[in-house]
Amino acid sequence: MASRTPNTVSIAGVDPSGGAGVLADVKAMSALGAYACGVICALTAQNTQGVTGIHPVPVEFVRQQIDTLFADVKIDAAKIGMLGTAAVTKAVAEAMQKWSPPQLVLDPVMVAKSGDELLTKDAVASLREALLPLATIITPNLPEAGVLLGHRGPETLKEMARAAEKLRRLMSDAGNRWVLLKGGHLPASDAIDLLHDGDKMIELPAKRIDTKNTHGTGCTLSSAIAALLPQYADVPEAVRRAKLYLTEAIRYSGALDVGKGHGPVHHFHGLWGKASPDRER
Ligand SMILES: Nc1ncnc2c1ncn2[C@@H]1O[C@H](COP(=O)(O)OP(=O)(O)OP(=O)(O)O)[C@@H](O)[C@H]1O
Ligand SMILES: [Mg+2]
Repeated sequence: MASRTPNTVSIAGVDPSGGAGVLADVKAMSALGAYACGVICALTAQNTQGVTGIHPVPVEFVRQQIDTLFADVKIDAAKIGMLGTAAVTKAVAEAMQKWSPPQLVLDPVMVAKSGDELLTKDAVASLREALLPLATIITPNLPEAGVLLGHRGPETLKEMARAAEKLRRLMSDAGNRWVLLKGGHLPASDAIDLLHDGDKMIELPAKRIDTKNTHGTGCTLSSAIAALLPQYADVPEAVRRAKLYLTEAIRYSGALDVGKGHGPVHHFHGLWGKASPDRER
C-alpha cells in the first residue's frame, strides 16, 4: 500500500442527481481511501430517469482546468469519463500526453443507461486514436466495444474474449496495459467482466443483482479502479477489489431512496454502518 493518500481526478461530466459522472466518481474515490479532484467537461440536466440536456464546457476552459490542477497537485491516477464532443476529447488527450499521470483509467462513455447519447459520433475516432494509446486500462461496456471496433457489440462470452483481444491491440504496445470489457449488458445470470492484457484473459464473475438501481455502475467501477490502482501495484488485484466494491454498492442500493427511475448505487455502504440490503424499493 502507498504510504501517502493517493490523489485522483475524475475528468468527466456532471450528473446533478449524483448517481453518475463526477459527483459519483468523487464519492467512489473517497469511499476507497483516495483524495478526489474533478475536472468538468460537460454539464448535463439529468435525473434517474433520463438526460434532458447537455451543455458542453468550452474546450479552452477544460484545458485550463486540467493545466491549473496538474500544475499544483501531484495526481497519482486520472479517470476519464464523459467528454461529450470531439474537441474536448482531443484537448483532454493532449493534456494527458502533456501531464502523463502514472495511472490513466479510460471509461469510453458513449450512451447513458437511459439510452441518451453522451458522445458525438465524430468524437469516436479521436477517442480511439488519441486516448486509447495513453490509457493504463479501458473499461468499455459491450455496445461501446462494438463502436470502438467498428462492428456490432459482442453478445456471448466467446465474442467478448475476441473483442477484448482486438481492443487491446488499439492500446499502447507497452506492457501492463489492460482492457476491462464489462458484461453488464450480457443476457446472462452472472455479470461477467473480462480483464485482458494481451496475454492473460481473466474472468471476473459476479452474481447479477436483481435491482433497477444501476445508474452509474460504470462510472463507479472505473473510479474505484482509479482509486485502487495507486494502492495495489497489481492491476488485476485493484480491479478485483473495485468490482467487489461495486457489487456491494449495487447490493446495498435499496438503502437509498433517490428518484423514480434507475437509482444510484450506495457508494458508502461500507462506511455508514446502517445500510441494509433488505430495504429494496
Ligand atoms: N445487476 C447487476 N448486478 C451486478 N453487477 C452488475 C449489474 N449490472 C451491471 N453490473 C456490473 O457493473 C459494472 C458496469 O457494467 P455495465 O456493463 O452496466 O457498464 P456501463 O453500461 O458502462 O454502465 P453505465 O450505464 O453506468 O455507464 C460491470 O462490472 C458489470 O458487470
Ligand atoms: Mg458506462
